[in-house]
Amino acid sequence: MKSAIYPGSFDPITNGHLDVIERGARIFDKIIVAVLINVEKKGLFDIEERVELIKKATQGIGNVEIISFEGLLIDLLKQKETNIILKGLRTVMDFEYELQMALMNNKLDKEVETLFMATATETSFVSSSAVKQVAKFGGSIEGLVPSNIVDDIERKINRDDRGVVNGQTRN
Ligand code: PNS
Repeated sequence: MKSAIYPGSFDPITNGHLDVIERGARIFDKIIVAVLINVEKKGLFDIEERVELIKKATQGIGNVEIISFEGLLIDLLKQKETNIILKGLRTVMDFEYELQMALMNNKLDKEVETLFMATATETSFVSSSAVKQVAKFGGSIEGLVPSNIVDDIERKINRDDRGVVNGQTRN
């Protein structure tokens, strides 16, 4: 059985991520979607919330496992007995960042291989951070994230905003 780990911060999952998961699940026997900490990004959703949103968005796909992990990706690969990392590529900017991580992971463990999947053109402009910005200022996130989690995302973002104006608590 050949499985691959699809790691990311997924804060939150977008249609771009879902596309990679769906296509990856047709190539591998199992896709393990792993929510990991990116030390360079401050998250909005708790790790548990991210996992729940991914579970909800992928409920129609049989061969997917959703987990969270704290630590190095190479240690998770060992634990899950696979050497394949799957990552989506949207732009050249993604490539520079992803290549650096792929080389680092391969330096840490020579067995590790990173496979890049070109994202669908329809989602190549979608990012979790753009989704959060659009939702925060009242724009529509329909078509950017899986339809069955649109409400969850909007509710979370509006709840976090409520009561706070310019960093001060509203009366
Ligand atoms: O979705 P992101 O934020 O681009 O995902 C980045 C992530 C979480 C996959 C990356 O930061 C990561 O692998 N973190 C775990 C720690 C690790 O293994 N770092 C070494 C590789 S540079």
